[in-house]
Amino acid sequence: MDLSLPRRVEPELLDHLDAHDPRAQRSRNDLRRLHRAMATLTVLERALDRATSGSPPHTIVELGAGDGSLMLRLAHRRAARWPGAHVTLLDRLNLIAPRTLDAVRNLGWTPRVMAMDVFDWLARADANLADIVFANLFIHHFSAEPLARLLAGIAQRCRVFFCCEPRRSALPLAGSHLIGLLGAGPVTRKDAVSSVHAGFRGHELSALWPNPSAWLLHENSAGLFSHGFLAIRK
Ligand SMILES: C[S@@+](CC[C@H](N)C(=O)[O-])C[C@H]1O[C@@H](n2cnc3c(N)ncnc32)[C@H](O)[C@@H]1O
Repeated sequence: MDLSLPRRVEPELLDHLDAHDPRAQRSRNDLRRLHRAMATLTVLERALDRATSGSPPHTIVELGAGDGSLMLRLAHRRAARWPGAHVTLLDRLNLIAPRTLDAVRNLGWTPRVMAMDVFDWLARADANLADIVFANLFIHHFSAEPLARLLAGIAQRCRVFFCCEPRRSALPLAGSHLIGLLGAGPVTRKDAVSSVHAGFRGHELSALWPNPSAWLLHENSAGLFSHGFLAIRK
């Protein structure tokens, strides 16, 4: 069964809570648990392996990196094969604990935190292309016009882009109403439903990606609830 759900972006509660608000802290804990339930790291690794096909990236940027836990888990899985990577964790909030950064360093990667709005980052001149830019549960925050600007800006900054976002269809919508069963608190329960309405389906992101003939684009469902978009510069 599939529903014809028009895309609807509404503000998410977590985005408007102070980083130290206990409700925000609970919601970030919920997100970590949800990533494990949704196999986010596996989805990310598969996409990045497909894109790098054996040639190790040197520079990796995560947009909307939150508490940095996904990048740390990626470092655990990939640091031996991708030694010495320089990784940038960008989020408009500075939420990354020093112990998370130390753990990334201990694995041999060099982390840099950029606490800024993604559009301020895109506005900065930078002649260097990142080998990989990725994002998880971030791209769906943007409505049509800023989303098109965001993707255009990212395309100018990287060789590979991957994002894993909510899939806007019946099963994820049903799942989003049930995440209380995984112990998620009220903020996450509300944001999960909003996220599915703001998510993607079909080839919506490919249609917005600039200059598609210069890229290999793959856009598919990822797992039961997610939607993956991978762009590889030719
Ligand atoms: C739903 S959370 C996802 C966090 C993390 N990627 C994860 O999967 O757990 C979205 C993150 O995007 C950040 N964010 C939202 N809008 C942003 C913007 N315009 N620029 C930079 N970060 C932004 C928020 O602060 C938040 O940490």
